[in-house]
Amino acid sequence: MRVLLTGGAGYIGSHTALVLLERGHEVVVLDDFSNSSREAARRVAELSGREVPVIEADLADRAAATAALDGVDFDAVIHFAGLKSVGESVAEPTRYYRVNIDSTLTLLDLMRERGVTNLVFSSSATVYGDPQYVPQDEAHRTGVGLTNPYGWSKFMIEQIIRDTFTSWPELGAVVLRYFNPVGAHPSGRIGEDPTGIPNNLMPFIAQVAVGKRERLSVFGDAYPTVDGTGVRDYIHVMDLAEGHVAALERIAPGVKTYNLGSGTGSSVLEVVRAFEEASGCPVPYTVVPPRPGDVAEVVANPSKANAELDWSTTRSLAESCRDSWAWQSANPDGYRA
Ligand code: UFG
Repeated sequence: MRVLLTGGAGYIGSHTALVLLERGHEVVVLDDFSNSSREAARRVAELSGREVPVIEADLADRAAATAALDGVDFDAVIHFAGLKSVGESVAEPTRYYRVNIDSTLTLLDLMRERGVTNLVFSSSATVYGDPQYVPQDEAHRTGVGLTNPYGWSKFMIEQIIRDTFTSWPELGAVVLRYFNPVGAHPSGRIGEDPTGIPNNLMPFIAQVAVGKRERLSVFGDAYPTVDGTGVRDYIHVMDLAEGHVAALERIAPGVKTYNLGSGTGSSVLEVVRAFEEASGCPVPYTVVPPRPGDVAEVVANPSKANAELDWSTTRSLAESCRDSWAWQSANPDGYRA
């Protein structure tokens, strides 16, 4: 297939682009580079030995995106583009809703106008809100206890996709609910490149290990978990990328929803220890009060994706730490170097 990757120069998009190319698909990257780098797409081309056409456009700007995609052919879309910082979304809700929702509306209209019926969408386990039970399957309730506009935007877009299918039964859409993506391509050439202070655990730890930051703040140690720190389901980004390809290759009319996670939870302190082991560098930390909106435990039940997509994670937390370290140590300033 020829696949349009919106946000294809970002962290998950770039790894998925590489796996698609290695599977013999063609890719076209559409990105506004607001939180990504052209260099990522260049390195995907270098790693794959294939061409990676890049279109620079803001998908939330309907006129600009329509013009930029004029004459560009594609059979399917993986829609990664969007803003994703939880804290920022609380401070700037209208920007988050405008960018995340407008870009999806534009994309859906554009696909329908052109008769492109295949869509994979980047959703998040955040739609489950306050967990009723762990591990969470796709039948877990959604949209209750969401604490931020970022999470609400994912919830709303899922609904927009379902409503679009109701009016357009040829649409084949797969909604992928990601748990916590970590790691990097084992080459260390592409990886996660957050701007400013990382919000997420693994990139923060990596910057402590490489000496860019002094110490990690551990947000709370009194949760009802194995050691009191928060538990999450960390999924290697290459496993996640393979999940997208599996979904794309099985797409059919309808809307399917899958968790992409490992099914295994790890605590903050377990991640710290795994990273110290992988890097050989100490990761000093201080326990501070819990972060508002955080929950004790989020772990996927990935059985549905395992069965229907014939996909499961194969990489361990140790491998995620090793690959994240390979990327961080070779690119201490990310793609800016
Ligand atoms: N944590 C720390 N210190 C830090 C950063 C994180 O102790 O500096 C802890 C958090 O409290 C949490 C765990 O590490 O227990 C993971 O935190 P992340 O910020 O890496 O990830 P979250 O689980 O909070 O959020 C992730 C995605 C969101 C998504 C959410 C859905 O980043 O986009 O999962 O569950 F909405």
